[in-house]
Amino acid sequence: MSQIARVKTGIPGLDKMLNGGLPKGRTILLSGPAGAGKTTLATQFIYRGVVEYGDPGIYVTFDENPKTVRQNFASYGWKLENLEKENLLALVDGFSMRAGVASKEKYSIRLEIDDLLTTLIALIDELGAERVVIDSLTALALSLESEMRIRREILKLSAVMSSLKCTTLVTSEMSQSGEISRYGVEEFMASGVIVLDIQEVNQRLVRSIYIRKMRGIDHELVRRPFEMTQNGCVALSTETLFL
Ligand SMILES: Nc1ncnc2c1ncn2[C@@H]1O[C@H](COP(=O)(O)OP(=O)(O)OP(=O)(O)O)[C@@H](O)[C@H]1O
Ligand SMILES: [Mg+2]
Repeated sequence: MSQIARVKTGIPGLDKMLNGGLPKGRTILLSGPAGAGKTTLATQFIYRGVVEYGDPGIYVTFDENPKTVRQNFASYGWKLENLEKENLLALVDGFSMRAGVASKEKYSIRLEIDDLLTTLIALIDELGAERVVIDSLTALALSLESEMRIRREILKLSAVMSSLKCTTLVTSEMSQSGEISRYGVEEFMASGVIVLDIQEVNQRLVRSIYIRKMRGIDHELVRRPFEMTQNGCVALSTETLFL
């Protein structure tokens, strides 16, 4: 049997934790509490995917306005609009309709799984996209009334992305009680789970990252320090954690 093909994340340190990168074509959950860095890591995966690895990408934003996303990441020197102009990146606005306002964006969708899938299928074909981000699954799950539907729709999403050979990161809010996912089912449906954390240590807030699961991959089982720098986020080696 051949090994699972890998996709470089573009996050320094993370590919080493994964022993080479994310499994290609799989759907991975990126879980963490507010402010842990989920949106930044996910955007970096898409941005570096284009500029370093030549993989076009799609970013679906339900949690923030695309205009705000472009603005926030300009502070890292990532000019998303330049990639959009070249058709290497599509920012899909799932925020406006959710907020009940008209979208000014080229691509916009309702907070609804079928609309999401139809749009993704068309855009993946148009851009030749290999990377997809959905930010966040927590928002999307709000539109699905029951746990059973959440399970079914996540499986459907994973199956469609896999058939299109797209590696997909879906962000997910951690519950107040520290559960990996809000509804308690998302982590079982995803092929892998990466956890970002932010904890108080000696009156300082310290970010960290670990891989909770990655089916088919012999990954690191270590919590590493995770930092936001001027150039984006990095997973550092373990020595500096919680000093
Ligand atoms: N230019 C920057 N350089 C370093 N750190 C930054 C920069 N801009 C923002 N940050 C940090 O990143 C944090 C936001 O991270 P991010 O939006 O990725 O978190 P998140 O996990 O997606 O949060 P949420 O749950 O609210 O969606 C900010 O709270 C701030 O601490
Ligand atoms: Mg976010």
